[in-house]
Amino acid sequence: MSLTPQGPDPDVPEPEVPKPQADIFAKVDDSRMEDYRLAESLDLLPYYRELDGEIGPTMTFAGRPVVMLGSNNYLGLTTDPRVRAAAISAVERYGTGITGSRLLNGTLAIHGELEELLADWVDMESALVFSTGYAANLGLLGTIVGPSDAAIVDSAAHASLVDGARLSDGTLRAFRHNRPNSLRRTLRSWREQPDSGGALVAVDGIYSMDGDWAPLPEIAEACSDFGARLLVDEAHALGVVGPRGAGTAAAMGVRPDLVMGTFSKSLASCGGFIAGSRSVIEYLKVTSRPFVFTASGVPAALAAALEAARIAQVEDWRREAVAARAEQLRAGLAQLGYQVADRVQSSIVAVQVGDKWDAGMLWKALIDHGVYTNCAVPPAVPRAMLRTSVMATHSDADIDRALDGFEAARSPGPQRAAGR
Ligand SMILES: Cc1ncc(COP(=O)(O)O)c(C=O)c1O
Repeated sequence: MSLTPQGPDPDVPEPEVPKPQADIFAKVDDSRMEDYRLAESLDLLPYYRELDGEIGPTMTFAGRPVVMLGSNNYLGLTTDPRVRAAAISAVERYGTGITGSRLLNGTLAIHGELEELLADWVDMESALVFSTGYAANLGLLGTIVGPSDAAIVDSAAHASLVDGARLSDGTLRAFRHNRPNSLRRTLRSWREQPDSGGALVAVDGIYSMDGDWAPLPEIAEACSDFGARLLVDEAHALGVVGPRGAGTAAAMGVRPDLVMGTFSKSLASCGGFIAGSRSVIEYLKVTSRPFVFTASGVPAALAAALEAARIAQVEDWRREAVAARAEQLRAGLAQLGYQVADRVQSSIVAVQVGDKWDAGMLWKALIDHGVYTNCAVPPAVPRAMLRTSVMATHSDADIDRALDGFEAARSPGPQRAAGR
């Protein structure tokens, strides 16, 4: 598709240029950037820090070992010899890059193999592999939500679902996080609008920051009552929960219309997919711009995801280990007085802090005591927090060491927050 230029013929003489003129770069000095630079100057910045060593349960930071609690490598497959060997053999067979769109020269037999396995895993007719999970959500919502349609998303849903809805020509509506009644009200008000078209409800199966599950049975019921389609983003659930690691929908016995998954977490790679009915997947294949107008993922990434998915389906001990390590971490943090949930629901253990500078200082104290966590501040989350997550390959001793770090790092910040 080409764009139609606006305005009169460029050869017609131009009228005088209006003044004053705003500079599009003026925004780069906004207050967010001031905070960013201040944090950087105080050595409190928790972002873009360089790590070294194998992507595993411990890594190297500034020349010292750290227990890695900031990774989505939930099943610990990034360094698995079988996954590594699959990636290496794909490089040897195909080379380093596919250098083209799936539509043209970018489809290999390995795509078909992976798409078949993924569709079967989440019990859908068909699946389509995208170059990233973000692109998968963009490519789905941006395409399927048309001008008279609505995307109705949970208020805590991942940015890629929101951005996909924004890319679409339809309407974006949000409902209160994990509140099926709020969803029902939103759906009702949408249906009461004259000429309202279709509706797609989009939720995360497991929420990326707090690790809580969506109440899928109630959400699915609301969708069915109001004739809406349901998309479940299983990014943090695939491989981790459900029978054979098939995710939250399978665990709760719910059949959504569409499932999204990513390779960048349990599947130890990079890429993503949408699974659904054959007709919807074929429509995306032909019309989804974030699918068609970008290069196919590299062979090593596809082969690693394929091997990791095979392993994830059969090695139940990994899911059991994730649940055990997460509970060990959660219980230990609660005992130390940190504000954590009453029970673990996934590999994610969120430590609520409240104030963003307190969170930054806690992050820094932890890294100084050998624990790597992820710091999230508003607007990414409502209140500042440290997001921690465990891997199947963390040992009891790794988690104990992390808890020692949390004990040593304890500062007035989280204590105050815990009392709020
Ligand atoms: C819930 C959710 N959906 C989608 C994505 C995007 O996936 P990817 O990082 O593989 O592009 C993420 C990544 O953080 C996520 O947490």
